[in-house]
Amino acid sequence: MTDLDHPAPEFSREQAGRLASEHFGLAGELSRLDSERDQNFRLVSDAGEWTLKIINASEPAVESEFQAALLEHLGAVAPQLALPRLRKAASGAALATVTTAAGTRHALRMVSWLPGSPLAESERTSEVLHSLGRMLGRMDRALQGFIHPGALRVLDWDVRRADQSRARLHHVADAADRALLARFLDRFDATVAPRLPALRAQVIHNDANDWNVLVDPQQPGEVAGVIDFGDALHTVVIAEVAVACAYAMLDQDDPIGAAASIAAGFHAEYPLREEEVDLLFDLIAARLAISVTLSAQRRERTADNPYLAISEAPAWRLLRRLDAMNPRFATAILRQACGFDAAVGAGAIIDWIDRNARNFAPIVRPHPATLAKALVPYGEADHPMTVASAAAEPQAASAWWDAHAAEHGITLGIGPWGEARTVYSGDMFRSRFVEGERRIHHLGLDLFMPAGTKLHTPLAAVVKSVEIEEDPLGYGGLVALLHEPEGCPPFVTLWGHLAHEAAARLKPGDRLEAGALVGEMGNHAENGGWAPHLHLQISADPELAARDILGVGEARYLDVWRSLFPDAATLAGLPPETFAQTGRSRPEIVAARKASLLPNLSISYSEPIKFVRGDGAWLIDDRGRAYLDCFNNVCHVGHAHPHVVEAIATQAARLNTNTRYLHDNIVAYAERLTATLPPELCVASFACSGSEANSLMLRMARNHTGREEAIVLDWAYHGTTQELIDLSPYKYKRKGGNGRMPHVFEAAIPDSYRAPADWPVEEHARRFAASVAEQIEAMRGQGRAPALFLAESIPSVAGQVFLPQGYLKEVYAMVRAAGGLCVADEVQVGFGRVGSHWWAFETQGVVPDIVTMGKPIGNGHPMAALVTTREVAASFNNGMEYFNTFGGNPVSCAAGLAVLDVIEQGDLRRNAAEIGAYLLERFRDMQARHEAIGDVRGMGLFLGIELVEDRRSKVPATALAKKICDGVRRRGALIGTEGPHDNVLKMRPPMIFTRANADHLVAILEETFEAVSAGRE
Ligand SMILES: Cc1ncc(COP(=O)(O)O)c(C=O)c1O
Repeated sequence: MTDLDHPAPEFSREQAGRLASEHFGLAGELSRLDSERDQNFRLVSDAGEWTLKIINASEPAVESEFQAALLEHLGAVAPQLALPRLRKAASGAALATVTTAAGTRHALRMVSWLPGSPLAESERTSEVLHSLGRMLGRMDRALQGFIHPGALRVLDWDVRRADQSRARLHHVADAADRALLARFLDRFDATVAPRLPALRAQVIHNDANDWNVLVDPQQPGEVAGVIDFGDALHTVVIAEVAVACAYAMLDQDDPIGAAASIAAGFHAEYPLREEEVDLLFDLIAARLAISVTLSAQRRERTADNPYLAISEAPAWRLLRRLDAMNPRFATAILRQACGFDAAVGAGAIIDWIDRNARNFAPIVRPHPATLAKALVPYGEADHPMTVASAAAEPQAASAWWDAHAAEHGITLGIGPWGEARTVYSGDMFRSRFVEGERRIHHLGLDLFMPAGTKLHTPLAAVVKSVEIEEDPLGYGGLVALLHEPEGCPPFVTLWGHLAHEAAARLKPGDRLEAGALVGEMGNHAENGGWAPHLHLQISADPELAARDILGVGEARYLDVWRSLFPDAATLAGLPPETFAQTGRSRPEIVAARKASLLPNLSISYSEPIKFVRGDGAWLIDDRGRAYLDCFNNVCHVGHAHPHVVEAIATQAARLNTNTRYLHDNIVAYAERLTATLPPELCVASFACSGSEANSLMLRMARNHTGREEAIVLDWAYHGTTQELIDLSPYKYKRKGGNGRMPHVFEAAIPDSYRAPADWPVEEHARRFAASVAEQIEAMRGQGRAPALFLAESIPSVAGQVFLPQGYLKEVYAMVRAAGGLCVADEVQVGFGRVGSHWWAFETQGVVPDIVTMGKPIGNGHPMAALVTTREVAASFNNGMEYFNTFGGNPVSCAAGLAVLDVIEQGDLRRNAAEIGAYLLERFRDMQARHEAIGDVRGMGLFLGIELVEDRRSKVPATALAKKICDGVRRRGALIGTEGPHDNVLKMRPPMIFTRANADHLVAILEETFEAVSAGRE
């Protein structure tokens, strides 16, 4: 081993010049260079610039030969790298030797002089440090596979030998400094040493300090070369990075950032492994410990060698800063810089949470997604709530929030992840990583609700810790839960600002099932002195103790914190729209509609809703509130059903044409659709809207009968074209309507609930059918006869009216006897909605001549259909070509097929029947308690609740129905009102409606009825 105390060679310039020319054939100007152990000269010759090294006599020959072989190897393998190149001696050997007059033998080495100035003399920007990392990475890649007996050196500077520093600790004078080093050495022994043998090892440079790294002054961001291979040895690869970092970090504002630049640069050229990066922080500290203990030792033994102590003070400063850091956080920064997750598995945890977003138990009840939400103004420095909170005046902060929430109907206040806040003003919010930076970015998710709000775990968990943090503006009641869901790396959730009851109830190791109570939101006396809220935070590092989890982070490393402490919003069930609004505001859209759309385009609700996303039975508004959609029957199998979306997208990406060309989809769909109908109904035609289907139906019926007279039911609606408005009493009899046309004949709505009291129920069908007979009679009186009888199989606009059993049988018989066609409009009620049957007309035991379909057929894709008998189809084939540009196109038919798939595969008719029956039962239960509920009716998922002033008079309670409908909307569900008096609550939830959905709807209805009847709304 080299004797560090052996004196350096002492040759004069003249002697050195002679050695250069004698052994290397180089003559020129020599100047002395600094060296600790050897003697170095710069030689400027005609054949370039060189460094002559006269090697310390104590250096074993094998080590000098190793260095020479190393340089030779690099010259051969990586000639492009800016490294010193070996000049062989005149003898042909890599080294020459000289023996002094005193008989001491020295090896001599000549290497090329590298231009550039030491990095020590220029700024250590992240750019140049990245470049240094790359340079070292390239060099070490070139050294892979190189070995030499001299590389297997025992060297104090080998980080693997950091534990040897313990023996030098006593040279460190200050006890606190010794204790600091002991802490790092303990960590080294416990966590680093056992893992070192498994790391990749090879020959490395091992001394990329900033005097050995050259930069081009013209290009200060680029490393121009690396010199001095005197400490090269065979050791762990990561030591190369650790050594470079240990120097580059000295006196930097952001030392870990400096290390991250080097590591990232190295990794880009020579990919590091996670287990190497995980030890980097400790290896840096180890290198510093070696450095300061060696310095301390040498200062005692030599008369204060200035070269040796040169980096001692900055090294101590750096050690103190590292000591204040959480090594796991520093490692997270280094990991992220190399493209790894900040904590092992962080990415997988985030993905798993995203994938399973629908399956989490709600952390507050009702589900946070369904609550009206708004951000709490902690992001605004001057806001009174922020000011009060920072001043530790929680009551004032709460008072402001409570008033604001009440005024705007907000039930859940949100403090988002990442928000920059000025409330964090204390000294503990100074960054430990970046000098002069403060930690202001919130790394949890705050949910503000009243104190006492119960909080439930979204996933099964084991209690990791329970404590009470008493610090002012601390967490108060604090619980950490460990989650280990299948298929997901373990992670922790932190629940801060709880009431103290949790600490009494839970203990570490307790198992909580998903949905179990974690705690309650604490009041300011128990929650650290805040307006009541929950601080919920995920730690992807399950090892961190609750108190070590950073609640607030510095801007510089927000991306690292995002990976280590992922946003808990999805886990908490908050839709992303809660946090970011896109597009125009609601008032802007209302104004734009006024400016450029028809003024009579209606908008639901006096305070219109802007929906931005649909998901199953839910519609999500622009502020992240999910409404339970119990009204829109177009999204038959649920909003954005993936199978339907996929079918549409796949076909649209492949081909969309028209019926003039052959395509599989249209025939496949016609076959599948007609298979759901009675065998007589076997010919299909496709259109784009219910109106279009009804218009085509009209042409067929008129063509078939040669007449145009139609019988419709009062208050019916059949479509938006003029000829269909003429068949829609709901339109022509109301505002803007022109009244009934002479070819249109209205029969009474067969509404059993409003049938004359003296009609026996079993006679309702016959008695209501008599109204149709009267119309046929009236026609006859005018010398006319019906072309068609058109009715919805369950009149909807008329108020969810269920036809008395046998009604259609009676009517169809009469109409057919008069030569007319019978048409069932199933635009609203078809496709299995009634549960027991595919089509609502089937519940009446009839077979129409034509059935028209629309709305649910494509789950939102604009399509419609008509199915008729072969006879009617044949008569329509009168020579005039039938063409509909979009009707029956491949994309529409793909959508139609996908909807049928979903209904069939999901057994959704059965679901409609079961959930519908359950809802009816619950509505009837409500009816028993609410006098205003005059009638409850429904079949499958087509439901109505008729509201009346009193049950005897049955006076329609129109105003009440509006109040209920608005109240239900305020509570987060969508229903409608319908009927001639708008007093029937109308519900048509999607076929995928679950029992939980049903309970949610009923709960909202109950609450609304109670609030309205108590006069609160
Ligand atoms: C019973 C009925 N028929 C026909 C139509 C017309 O359908 P579309 O709006 O698709 O043209 C509607 C629309 O509300 C309807 O409810």
